[in-house]
Amino acid sequence: MWDPAQYQRFADERGRPFFDLLSRVGADDPGYVADLGCGPGNLTAMLAARWPRAQVIGVDSSAQMIGAARAQVAATGSLTFVQKDLRRWRPARPVDVLVSNAVLQWVPGHLDVVRRWPSLLAAGGWLAFQLPGNFDQPSHSILADLAASARWRPLLGGVELNRQSGDPAVYLDLLAGMGCAVDAWETTYLHVLTGPDPVTQWYRGTGLRPVLSALAPDQAEEFLAAYRALVQQAYPARPYGTVLPFRRVFVVAQRP
Ligand SMILES: C[S@@+](CC[C@H](N)C(=O)[O-])C[C@H]1O[C@@H](n2cnc3c(N)ncnc32)[C@H](O)[C@@H]1O
Repeated sequence: MWDPAQYQRFADERGRPFFDLLSRVGADDPGYVADLGCGPGNLTAMLAARWPRAQVIGVDSSAQMIGAARAQVAATGSLTFVQKDLRRWRPARPVDVLVSNAVLQWVPGHLDVVRRWPSLLAAGGWLAFQLPGNFDQPSHSILADLAASARWRPLLGGVELNRQSGDPAVYLDLLAGMGCAVDAWETTYLHVLTGPDPVTQWYRGTGLRPVLSALAPDQAEEFLAAYRALVQQAYPARPYGTVLPFRRVFVVAQRP
């Protein structure tokens, strides 16, 4: 279950890597553009704005996200949204630009997905994806340690947290080995967040979601309070805000 409103509380910070990723895609006039794991569709609309002559499709497995996309983004003949697992999605025709922003960390066996993507591209087509590379940071280790603690393990033992991503070199090796021209890099953003408990609020929209939805409301509040206390120590509030360092991994590949 995704909560599009909670996810979009930090829309500016979450959107920044999308634009940094797309700045390296050199497609001039693509005919068919796909955004896999499109979320609430606000960024999919940016693809339609950049390439107004393209057919743009947003695909997401979450009914809540697709519902928000359809409600928030004016669907036109050239911009559509489909609820589907990206692993089972088959394009109607070869794709000129395939984008997937902040999605693969949620997808089991994500390297198999990446390996399949070039086969969906038209000749000269572009693949662009970004995923977090910060799973060793306190935001995630606090969550994993709490979930594994004696208090919470009996309730959370079966819950899948989101997964470790590879380093840029992993994706470069994979895609260059398949004949693509690859541009892979990483960036650590220093997000300066404001408002009360911003880091906890950030992760309520993403990483905390599977845990909180597995608990009864009073248990979720208790878990959140424990997480909040530890996170406030790890990311202290400064007079100007709370700094959340966030490393992200970017890959742009072009099929020959
Ligand atoms: C962190 S959000 C990113 C949304 C959007 N791409 C953005 O950058 O704002 C992750 C999205 O991936 C979607 N997702 C996760 N696993 C998926 C899958 N197997 N197939 C399709 N969508 C998936 C989720 O439903 C969610 O909307």
